[in-house]
Amino acid sequence: MQRQSGAAGTSSSRARRVAHRTRDSCAAVFANTLCSVILGVLLVAGVALFVVWLSLRPHRPRFSLASFSITGGQVAFNVSDRNPNRHIGVYYDATRAEVRFYDTLVAAGPAFADGWYQPNMSTVSITGLLDVVGPGTRDPSWPSFNAALHAGRLPLRLQLSTAIRFRVNVFHSGRQRMHVNCELVVGADGNLLPESVGVPCDRYF
Ligand SMILES: *[C@@H]1O[C@H](CO)[C@@H](O)[C@H](O)[C@H]1NC(C)=O
Ligand SMILES: *[C@@H]1O[C@H](CO)[C@@H](O)[C@H](O)[C@H]1NC(C)=O
Repeated sequence: MQRQSGAAGTSSSRARRVAHRTRDSCAAVFANTLCSVILGVLLVAGVALFVVWLSLRPHRPRFSLASFSITGGQVAFNVSDRNPNRHIGVYYDATRAEVRFYDTLVAAGPAFADGWYQPNMSTVSITGLLDVVGPGTRDPSWPSFNAALHAGRLPLRLQLSTAIRFRVNVFHSGRQRMHVNCELVVGADGNLLPESVGVPCDRYF
């Protein structure tokens, strides 16, 4: 297009200025409207997400002691693990088990070497077989361990350590570490006393 010149230029430049202003204010109105629409959509999406979160809010799995024994140099345990979420599954990382008499390590090993998945609203048993490693007869804690065992009330703590992620459809939450502590008492024969059967275990994160 050719540049305009001479007398015609003055009026056409006025017209151009008017057109320019009109366009600017149109753009401003349009931008404002767009901004309002975007803010509105964001607000609605935020509220919707919050409502979905409230209805889906993940509950951590619940654990209780089904059975436990310490005999013949081995610990055998069975912990019941309930996922109470209606729509949320739980991924577990490799799970490690430890048994302690106060601070003394009694047995340790993997409960699950690999990660595994627990579907929504399901209960599974976490079982394990661990070699007893202590306390040795020369350990400072040996006398009290031995005395408690012979008295028929040996207090032990089974700890499971892992990390979990929640799954909703194809979405995963971040990993969070989880420790499950089951306080229990075994009798002189190394089997769980009735008072410890089915007790809920504590969870730490
Ligand atoms: C673990 O305990 C549960 C509940 O008592 C039982 O159904 C399951 O068979 C036990 N699993 C093993 C391997 O003992
Ligand atoms: C598990 O979740 C799926 C998808 O949300 C659902 O269709 C199914 O009924 C749930 N299972 C149970 C046992 O609630």
